[in-house]
Amino acid sequence: MGSRIVATGRATPNASVSNYDLERRMDTSDEWVRTRTGIVRRYVIASDESLVDIAADASRIALARAGLKPADLDAIVVGTVSSDFGFPSFACQLQHQLGIDTIPAFDVAAACSGFIYALSVADSSMRAGDWNRTLVVGADALSTMVDWNDRATAVLFGDGAGAAVLVSERGQRGILGSLLRSSGAYWELLSVRNRGVRTTMDAEARRCAADAIQMKGPELFRIAVKSMADVTAQVADRAGVKLSDISLIVPHQANLRIINAVAQRLGLPPEKVFTNVDHYGNTSAASVPIALDEALEAGRIRNDDLVMLNACGGGLTWGANLVRW
Ligand code: ACO
Repeated sequence: MGSRIVATGRATPNASVSNYDLERRMDTSDEWVRTRTGIVRRYVIASDESLVDIAADASRIALARAGLKPADLDAIVVGTVSSDFGFPSFACQLQHQLGIDTIPAFDVAAACSGFIYALSVADSSMRAGDWNRTLVVGADALSTMVDWNDRATAVLFGDGAGAAVLVSERGQRGILGSLLRSSGAYWELLSVRNRGVRTTMDAEARRCAADAIQMKGPELFRIAVKSMADVTAQVADRAGVKLSDISLIVPHQANLRIINAVAQRLGLPPEKVFTNVDHYGNTSAASVPIALDEALEAGRIRNDDLVMLNACGGGLTWGANLVRW
């Protein structure tokens, strides 16, 4: 018995902020951001919005497309580092928002790799026979953790949520394998302290620099390329799949140059790589499920296609899931 993604959904905050909007706030330019990252705009959460509401919207869309009700679920696993609370978990808040009770609901904290990790955890429990219908969500709002005076980080991140409904199934289709990796040795490349309160872009108060996201961009860039390429090749190899047989890679959308460099290392042509970083920025754990949902909507994935999901993020963490659609 394995698990298959039967439906996906996505949701974002209302406001989309362009590079030109950011030019008016800080010493940056559309040209710099576009050429270094591929990002043109990103959705940014406002002080009167809730990421749990946004995740619930994405979840309801995925559930409706799966023909299921929240009450049909056996578990909720959320990849996130953006809960407003130390506890309860984001997943418990989402469970409440969806009006259901008693099923297990928990978070997986792996930063930008959160959805890859959550999918692997859900698949393992479903293979073990624990759950038959699982909601897996990636949701983050890293815009609330940046120092809006720090142009090196503030331009990179956006907010949102993506959801996938997994159903237990026998047969050839579904999640063929996952590989998860971490290296705490690299923790200082990307970090944020837990003590900072949520500070939205529209708030009067600014997050103080020491409590905001700290990042060593160029070093992170190099490790992200190598780790994402390596783990992708390894998960394909373990499943006995040739990279050339993969129909589409849906990578974490951090930076177009990282995505292109990963594809180049793997020898994959651009048409086999899905990108939407231009209008979302880096939405952390939400980026892979949002991209997956858009790829499906655009008809880029057909039944029986081999699809690879991969990501790298703070921790450092990285990983990949291979799916026969
Ligand atoms: N606008 C204008 N100038 C800027 C900006 C900005 N927003 N940000 C930095 N700069 C300046 C710097 O001050 C520096 O100026 P200096 O040379 O006078 O000191 C210069 O630009 C640095 O430019 P580059 O070295 O060309 O920058 P680089 O090509 O390394 O790109 C970037 C920087 C985009 C951060 C890149 O290193 C990167 O993408 N790293 C990975 C970061 C990332 O993706 N983090 C997300 C989480 S990890 C993950 O998801 C994989």
